[in-house]
Amino acid sequence: AGGGDQHIEDYAFSFEGPFGTYDQNQLQRGLQIYTEVCAACHGLKQVPLRTLGDEGGVGLDGDQVRAYAAENFTVFDAELDDDREAIPSDHFPANTGAGAPDLSLMAKSRAGFHGPYGSGINQFIHGIGGPEYIASLLTGYTGKEKEEAGKTFYENTAFPGGWISMAPPLGGEDVDYIDGHSNSLEAESQDIAAFLMWSAEPKMMARKQAGFVGVLILTILSVLLYLTNKRLWAPIK
Ligand code: HEM
Repeated sequence: AGGGDQHIEDYAFSFEGPFGTYDQNQLQRGLQIYTEVCAACHGLKQVPLRTLGDEGGVGLDGDQVRAYAAENFTVFDAELDDDREAIPSDHFPANTGAGAPDLSLMAKSRAGFHGPYGSGINQFIHGIGGPEYIASLLTGYTGKEKEEAGKTFYENTAFPGGWISMAPPLGGEDVDYIDGHSNSLEAESQDIAAFLMWSAEPKMMARKQAGFVGVLILTILSVLLYLTNKRLWAPIK
């Protein structure tokens, strides 16, 4: 692999297209992967824990959000001058691993589709491809490694340049899903990619709904204006 032959798989995510919606079970599985695997190094500092209870997203109930926050994270409280269990009004913690970027907006800050000739035109058909990029990155390790300047790099067919310093975080069967869904590498990668799409755009479903209502109202208005116009000009024509 190298910069030139970067490969991004065009996965079919449930949230694609004008009527696409998040799959709540998939987001919950992605949250599990984030918590059990990625959170060891990557932060999610822009995301308030309470949003895990929002409608149209991960959809935990109030008690589940409180339990999740308390069980998984401790935060430093300036008022107590001490660490305490996280509560829903806290954010996910920031990055802990050296050099690991924050993942809050990762799905929107990477593009999967660039062509043809870097013009970005196929983004109209495939979308920007942030979640596709993340899923392809996680499944794109070839197994080759190299040492450079005392650091290990891993060959990856999705990463621009072909060599990434993140060791393969998933190998398949890394977590056990309570909903019995497949935990193959491909399935896990798509689940965490979907979850990171949600973290980057938690209000996507509300935005699509508002857009649809807007188009509907404008369509009705066009018909009414057309008929009004006909009527006004009828005596003159
Ligand atoms: C980079 C995702 C687990 C360390 C990245 C990037 C993504 C990502 C999307 C950015 C790639 C880019 O710049 O385009 C994930 C996911 C994980 C995970 C979804 C869990 C499934 C981990 C773990 C570690 C880690 C456990 C530490 C042991 C890093 C580092 C980078 C990175 C050091 C920077 C790599 C570079 O720029 O060469 N990760 N990661 N990641 N991650 Fe992870």
